[in-house]
Amino acid sequence: MRKTIKELARERRSIRKFKKEEFELNIVLDCIEVAKEAPSGSNAQPWHFVIIEDDELKKKIRETCEKGEKKFYANVKGKLAEWLKNKKLNWQKPFLIEAPYIIAVFSHKKSPYSRESVWIAIGYLILAIEEKGLASLTYTPPNRGEVAKLLNCPEDYRLEALIPVGYANEDKVKEPRKILDEIVAINSFHNLIYNLIKD
Ligand SMILES: Cc1cc2nc3c(=O)[nH]c(=O)nc-3n(C[C@H](O)[C@H](O)[C@H](O)COP(=O)(O)O)c2cc1C
Repeated sequence: MRKTIKELARERRSIRKFKKEEFELNIVLDCIEVAKEAPSGSNAQPWHFVIIEDDELKKKIRETCEKGEKKFYANVKGKLAEWLKNKKLNWQKPFLIEAPYIIAVFSHKKSPYSRESVWIAIGYLILAIEEKGLASLTYTPPNRGEVAKLLNCPEDYRLEALIPVGYANEDKVKEPRKILDEIVAINSFHNLIYNLIKD
């Protein structure tokens, strides 16, 4: 039986280790078919997708990202530094060469609400990937401009994210989510449903 959208959303998790196992490009195209149905400011559809499957290019992308990550990790402080350490994340990004495909997602800078629109499309995309039984990561390298250049991105577009796609090669516990009671209010920001239930 097909999974519901709620099940897919609950089961999806960010995967940072991928099997090299290959699959058809058509599967990725099918996921992008879903992403392109997203709403967008004045229906400008300000997105552009580049599918990277070339191993040499993936290597270059990894090198470029890791150069940016080294700088980022050398300077990161406070709560974010602590969170990254707890998650055992570091400057190394091997998933960029492991995953059979990376989808680079771009936004058109001058379209209305372009970033908001593209990020809605990314939301659709990662759930579509989940529905295929594949895994993904929403990766935002610190030096996105440099990566964009490798992909011949024109001036009027900006790279939003790199989404490696493949079969998961790690078992991951779902990162906890806040419960509805904490994040939903009725009629007024502070009127949390939690308080209403208690009364
Ligand atoms: C806008 C955005 C940027 C992100 N950037 C990165 C990133 O650069 N590197 C990374 O490893 N994960 C990145 N992530 C993944 C988050 O760390 C992850 O979604 C979060 O920890 C929750 O885990 P889950 O996706 O497994 O539920 C990003 C996610 C989003 C939505």
